[in-house]
Formats: sequence, C-alpha cells, structure tokens
Amino acid sequence: GKPSPTHCGYKSKVGSLVKPETTELNIRTGRNVPRMGLMLVGWGGNNGSTLTAALEANKHSLEWRTRQGVQQANWYGSITQSSTVLLGSDATGQDVYIPMNQLVPMVNPNDIVVDGWDISSLNIGEAMKRAQVLEVGLQDQVYKRLAQLRPRASIYDPDFIAANQADRADNTIKGTRYEQYQQIVRDIREFKQQSGVDKVVILWTANTERFAEVKEGVNTTMADLERSLKQNHSEISPSTIFAMAAIAENCIYINGSPQNTFVPGVIEMAEHYGAFIAGDDFKSGQTKLKSVLVDFLVSAGIKPVSIVSYNHLGNNDGKNLSAPQQFRSKEISKSNVVDDMVASNHILYGADEHPDHCVVIKYVPYVGDSKRAMDEYTSQIMLGGHNTLVIHNTCEDSLLATPLILDLAILGELCSRIQVRRKDAVAGCEYLPFRSVLSLLSYLCKAPLVPQGTPVVNSLFRQRTAIENILRACVGLPPLSHMTLEHRFDLPVGESQPDVQQHVAKKARVANGTAEKCNGVHNGDAHPSEEVASR
Ligand SMILES: NC(=O)c1ccc[n+]([C@@H]2O[C@H](COP(=O)([O-])OP(=O)(O)OC[C@H]3O[C@@H](n4cnc5c(N)ncnc54)[C@H](O)[C@@H]3O)[C@@H](O)[C@H]2O)c1
Repeated sequence: GKPSPTHCGYKSKVGSLVKPETTELNIRTGRNVPRMGLMLVGWGGNNGSTLTAALEANKHSLEWRTRQGVQQANWYGSITQSSTVLLGSDATGQDVYIPMNQLVPMVNPNDIVVDGWDISSLNIGEAMKRAQVLEVGLQDQVYKRLAQLRPRASIYDPDFIAANQADRADNTIKGTRYEQYQQIVRDIREFKQQSGVDKVVILWTANTERFAEVKEGVNTTMADLERSLKQNHSEISPSTIFAMAAIAENCIYINGSPQNTFVPGVIEMAEHYGAFIAGDDFKSGQTKLKSVLVDFLVSAGIKPVSIVSYNHLGNNDGKNLSAPQQFRSKEISKSNVVDDMVASNHILYGADEHPDHCVVIKYVPYVGDSKRAMDEYTSQIMLGGHNTLVIHNTCEDSLLATPLILDLAILGELCSRIQVRRKDAVAGCEYLPFRSVLSLLSYLCKAPLVPQGTPVVNSLFRQRTAIENILRACVGLPPLSHMTLEHRFDLPVGESQPDVQQHVAKKARVANGTAEKCNGVHNGDAHPSEEVASR
C-alpha cells in the first residue's frame, strides 16, 4: 500500500474512527545539479522576453535608475530564490530561517541556458521592447545581448489561438502535424547538442489555446494519439504536439496556460516514457489571492456565498483572451479554484452547494501589462450577517508570472532527482521516482494537474507546506508541525542539558547551516540524514 499519514477508518454516528499509521521511508536526492536548458514556447511574448531579461539582469547584478532611485536586479516573487523556510530553533529558542534554495541542491538561475520557439520572428530584444514591461534603464542594458537571441519557428494553428494573433505569425513550421512534431524533436536535439545541457525543461508560455475535444479513438490513449498525429487529425493542438515531443525526448514539460494540452493520451505517454509533466496555468495574481482568501474564510468558519472577479488587461494575452473560445479556457481554469476548500467544510456547505462564482475578463489596450483585477467576496457570518470584501489588485502581469516560470523549471528539475522507497522494502523493491504528473508544482498553477484519482489541492498554504515539508524530508528533517510544545509547556525536550535550565528548550540545534538534531513531532528521535518517518 501507499504510505498514508493517518488512516480514517470510517465515520459512525459517534464520530470518525482514526487509526494513526506510521510508514518509514528512505528518501534520496541526487545531489549533482545538472546543467539545465529551458526552452520556452512563446519565447517572444511578454513572459518569455521578461524572463530572459531577468536572467540577464540577475546574472550580471545589473542596476538601473528609476524615478524612485537605483533599482537592483532581484527575483522577488520566486519561492526558490526569494523565500525562506523555517529550519528549527537555535540554542536560545529563536527561529532559524534559510533560503529555500539552500535546503537541497537546486539549479542556480545564473546557469540556465534559455532557448525557445515563437510564431513571431522578432528577436528577443525587440520582443522585450514590444512587451513594454521593463524599465527603460534595464531594457537598454540587456538589449544588445537579447537582440542576438532569435526564436525558432513554431507550430501555428489559427484554429487554436485567437484570430487576432494572425498578424504576428511570420515564423511558422510548415507541413503536416507529424512533420511539425519531427521538427520540434530536431530542435530539442539540436539545442541539447549545441548548448551541452544535461537536462531540458520545456515550458508553454505561448498564447492560450481553445480546449481540444477529448474523444475516444482520437486522443484518449497513447496509441490513438500517436495515430491521430500521423493522420494529421485536426483536434491535435500545437501544445499537445510540443508535449509529445518533449516527452519522447525525455524532457520535463510544463503548461503555463489553461488549455487541455494534457489530454489522456499525453498523460499515458508521459507515464509510459517515465517523463515528468506539470500544469496548468500560472497562478500569479487574482487566483493566487483567491486560493488564500477562500481558505482563510472557510477555515475561519465563515461562509463565502458569492465571489465575483473582474479583470481588465491590455497586453497581447488580453487580446488573445478577448476571443470567446480562448476566454472559455481561462474561465474554466479560474473557476475550480475554490472547490476543495468548499468541500472541506460540511458544516458550512451542503453536499452539492457552492458559492456563486463569476469570472469576467476584458481587453483594454491602454493598461498594457498592468492588469487590474477587482474582486468582491460576500460571505455569511454569524446570525444572518454579511461580510463583503472588495479588493483591487494591480497585478503587473508578467512581473508576477516570470518568477513562477523560474520556480516551475527549478522545482520540476529538482523533482526529477528525488526518489523514495519504504524503509522496510523487501529485496528487489527499488526506489521510486515521483509519479509523472508533478502535483508538487500545484502551488504555481491555477488549475493543478494531479495523478489520476488523487485529490486536487488549491489552498496555497497546503501547497506551499507540501513543498517545504518534502524538501525538509529530503534532508532528514521531520515535517513542520508548528506545535512548538517546548514554548507552550515547561517541558525540557531534546537532549537534556542539566546546565541549561531554561523554559525555552531546543527544537533543533543549528550549526553551520545544517541541523544536527531535530525533534519537533518526533520527540527527540535521531534521524539519519537520508531518512524520514512519515506519520
Ligand atoms: N500573469 C501572467 O502573465 C499569466 C498568468 C497565467 C497564465 N498566463 C498565460 O501565459 C501565456 C503567456 O502570457 P504572455 O503575457 O507572455 O502572453 P503573450 O501574448 O505576450 O506571449 C505569448 C507568445 O506566444 C506566441 N505564440 C502563440 N502561439 C504560439 C505557438 N503555437 N508557438 C510558439 N509561440 C506561440 C506569441 O507570438 C507570443 O509572442 C498566456 O497563455 C497566458 O494566459 C499568463
């Protein structure tokens, strides 16, 4: 069986019967960080050009003048680069935090080699100017280098993205779908060979496509999908062709847009090849806040009954989303985000009860990349009262999404180096990699793709805690419980130190950035560095 934290036997009239179970695991993490290549589909877009400029800016520690003073390059908004994790307490009982990327070896953004495709032929320097995202002082410093980067020709299918994109499609691969697939495979191989990278992540940050029809005989199995590709079937979308090529070439494929690239045949293919996939749709602004706010309300025992979300934006993404079918893809990915939180509280909600939830997106060219998101949350509070929250969020779309692209690539690569097995594994039971669908990246996605039959988690707190605790497990630290019993009771915990008669005992003693010993929920049990007990 699979290791499970607690086993809920059944619910009876008197309550739930819970039987705690413990499964001890060995976790191993490959410590050799590969040289990573990142191939962006939609490289010349707002996100693609902003990421490329941000990599340059950070690599060379650039500074530029703004009206407010001198601005330095940074990765604000990236959990791997700009957030910290709680390691434990020091000898005085004070919390000790370290940057997330120091917990286990991760790819350094400065070492990432970028490449990619776009249906628009503009070089990345010009694409950055077209995007109108970055301060001119920064653009001027990176322009020369970015102007040397040219996107590869891509697959253009006007049936899948909005008709209003036609005027930028001057860099396309001709031929049948199968021929286009073969060209993408050649591109990946050529990039690998020319750049010398060991591992390639391919990430879709191109325009949102309409949903593809999922149909038996066409794309519901790997065999059908491969046959349909060769038969040039019209429901095989460009993004699905990219995913198939990535999987066949053993790359990690990530979908940053809402469309259903991962039709069942693609998922089967990823499992067959042992490749990793993740998606869908970057969770950057309005939805990220929603996955925090609704969690807060529902877990506070407050009942959201109406959630109304307006957006207006003026970048090319907004232009593409002004077409009904592409908007529909976005509407779907934005809509399910509260489901798990609503389902978690049967005191507030009946079996099929949901809050009213409405999403509107309008294209207003003048605001450019500075997307405005306006939300109204109405909740029922005690004794028939109502609480209404109104939020105005100026998003700066691409500056919010770009750090997520970095995290998706870095965490996706890291996941490919983590393996786990039961400690009591019988002979021959090998270490297992993550399942092909990397649900650990849900934190970064609006509509998380999860392995079939497993629960979708949208709550941002749960998603982040999962990342943090799994990284801790990789170095033999127990999950963070936040019980901090040592602060709440006069309870000496950890190795008894008769000379230190202090109320604040030690949760973890930290020396030189590594935890020598930790107890937390484990009551002081020693943990060999590559083991962790899950309970
Ligand atoms: N905050 C955010 O920016 C955010 C959040 C969530 C999701 N997204 C999604 O990310 C995607 C990119 O956003 P953006 O603001 O960079 O958009 P953008 O329109 O500026 O960039 C998309 C790029 O993709 C190119 N393109 C279109 N079809 C292509 C294809 N088949 N192959 C290669 N290139 C193709 C376009 O020419 C364009 O340069 C959109 O789908 C958007 O919905 C963005």
